[in-house]
Amino acid sequence: MNVELQVATSSHVEDVLTLHYRYQVDSISDQDRADGFITTAFTKDHLTRLIEDENGLFIATVDGKIVAYAMAASWGFWSQWPMFEFMVKNLHDSTCLGQVINADNSYQYGPVCVDKSVRGLGVFEKVFEFALAQMSKRYPIMVTFINQINPRSFRAHTTKTSLTVIKEFGFNNNQYYKLACKTA
Ligand SMILES: CC(C)(COP(=O)(O)OP(=O)(O)OC[C@H]1O[C@@H](n2cnc3c(N)ncnc32)[C@H](O)[C@@H]1OP(=O)(O)O)[C@@H](O)C(=O)NCCC(=O)NCCS
Repeated sequence: MNVELQVATSSHVEDVLTLHYRYQVDSISDQDRADGFITTAFTKDHLTRLIEDENGLFIATVDGKIVAYAMAASWGFWSQWPMFEFMVKNLHDSTCLGQVINADNSYQYGPVCVDKSVRGLGVFEKVFEFALAQMSKRYPIMVTFINQINPRSFRAHTTKTSLTVIKEFGFNNNQYYKLACKTA
């Protein structure tokens, strides 16, 4: 399988949204839900801003078809959603690289999504590492969070990447792990 990685452009938005809504909480099939879902309901405008303002959408394609995406952006971008606003307020409760984490030395990675046709085949690691390498040019620390009811995502991120759990927190009746790693 030949996996190609690239920074997405506006021409990719429609196909990324199609992949996204296959696994988004409001539209995912009951059968797929056990393997994880994405909460945020992104629009075309959100993804266009993510691409144009943040250069923060990364995709994997196989035979020209988008099979995975990873998002990453500044806390300023994410703060339009209350959950991230909450995270920004509490960034300083943890450290990474011996530094207190803040909105300047870190960015937020995620969500990530791999189509079920290619799960377990290394696409996750590839899109993760690609996104990390791109963002390492801008930030020393990556921060992310994982819902505790998503064990597949937790296992993938804690065994196949250098992320480690730095905190646990609750928001809106959900429990989350907060994770971080250095980018370079
Ligand atoms: C989360 C996701 C990106 C991971 O990519 P992936 O290709 O499925 O990851 P992998 O299969 O390589 O790794 C998952 C690991 O979890 C294990 N796993 C699967 N179901 C599990 C479960 N219910 N509990 C614990 N571990 C589980 C797998 O066996 C695998 O471990 P192994 O390789 O050691 O056997 C992908 O499943 C996905 O897109 N899910 C839907 C959207 C989502 O949840 N995104 C993340 C939240 S934003």
